[in-house]
Amino acid sequence: MAGQSLASALPQLAIAGRWSAAERGAAQAIGFEVLRGLGRAQAVLCALHSKRIKPPELEQLLLVAIALLTAPGNPQGDSAGPLPLYPEHTLINQAVQACALRPKTRQGRGLVNALLRRLQAEREHLLQTALLADAARYNHPAWWVQRVRAAYPQDWANLLDLAAQRPAMALRVNARWGDRNAYLALLRTQGLHATAPETPGLEQALILHRPAPVQDLPLFEAGAVSVQDASAQLAAGLLDARDGMRVLDACAAPGGKTAHILERADCEVLALDHDAARAERIAGALARLRLPRVQVVAANAAQTGTWWDGRAFDRILLDAPCSASGIVRRHPDIRWLRQDSDIPALAAQQTALLEALWPLLAPGGRLLYATCSVFPEEGSEQAAAFLRRHGDALAWTAPGQILPSRLPEHDGFFYALFAKRTEHRNHPLA
Ligand SMILES: C[S@@+](CC[C@H](N)C(=O)[O-])C[C@H]1O[C@@H](n2cnc3c(N)ncnc32)[C@H](O)[C@@H]1O
Repeated sequence: MAGQSLASALPQLAIAGRWSAAERGAAQAIGFEVLRGLGRAQAVLCALHSKRIKPPELEQLLLVAIALLTAPGNPQGDSAGPLPLYPEHTLINQAVQACALRPKTRQGRGLVNALLRRLQAEREHLLQTALLADAARYNHPAWWVQRVRAAYPQDWANLLDLAAQRPAMALRVNARWGDRNAYLALLRTQGLHATAPETPGLEQALILHRPAPVQDLPLFEAGAVSVQDASAQLAAGLLDARDGMRVLDACAAPGGKTAHILERADCEVLALDHDAARAERIAGALARLRLPRVQVVAANAAQTGTWWDGRAFDRILLDAPCSASGIVRRHPDIRWLRQDSDIPALAAQQTALLEALWPLLAPGGRLLYATCSVFPEEGSEQAAAFLRRHGDALAWTAPGQILPSRLPEHDGFFYALFAKRTEHRNHPLA
């Protein structure tokens, strides 16, 4: 509510509250579930009580309880249908008890009890009224719903509904360790099951049938495997960096794609990220995977004068900062943190990065542009405008927009691959 992401807020709360691992897991699970249903909870609370509830802590406690009470259910429920996430009476009792924990909310016990019991009694009617609004029905801000609807007139509702689901957990088997069938066999010995997708470019990928904590993954610390979404795993194959090539990973932290590039080839990689704290994580990621060290620089990739030594790159990966609208299943808070005006601002940053980096690519080289977004401003429109601006750029075969509504095990992603023409036009050395 204060504009911080769940990924940064939860660790701080865990430290301040001295949470155990189990409490941390529970808080995260509840936080994620609530954010998946926040639009619905806000509308139901409004229908239950038209005045603003004070103090804010009491309002937030109610939103948590309502989001969980009205959640569609546990998708791991068996064929008899989805299971309720938590029994209703437990939720109501816990919410009332939670009021008593703080002086600020103690007075609100009666109100919380009354509102939640009314919700229990009038659930169908209240939900019907509340779900008339787009933000409540689809659990995304209204501007986000409009953007998705405009971009995907066929798929939009499905795409938004999919954001309520838990994401698949995909693994990338380190090619320097071995092939994925060997790892699949290892997983089985631990009672873990996975599918090996046949999609070209996903030769090292495994999709777990059920998510598992990384510490349960065999040889994780020894570097046999990484957790990386299937869409993100396509990057290294598209970039196709070969032994000895000079490669720029322009927005590299925390290093997932840098590592994948190095698992496939011995190339000379420069990994940049303008966030110094995030950049520090790259070396750790490579060390765990027993990969060669690379040069890591904390710098703004768009300000090439501050970090470029004048030697052209054979390959450039621009995994650009973006709205992250394609990974809302994984980060359910993103939709509530972003604002409509962020989208053109991010698109302008992406354009600036593309413009700054293109001159650094050697003729015959390739630049892969990627975003984990489903908004065309950050994907297809960005790529089309780039091609219009650059006569020496040739669009190479790439997936374009990947949508979870068409490939459910994939995050929403966009890829465009540009080859730089050599002096003899039309003959790129790709
Ligand atoms: C999508 S994430 C990169 C994920 C990474 N490629 C991976 O696979 O692990 C985008 C990154 O771009 C960085 N970034 C944003 N603007 C930048 C800029 N102007 N120059 C360099 N890095 C930037 C962010 O700090 C963030 O780490």
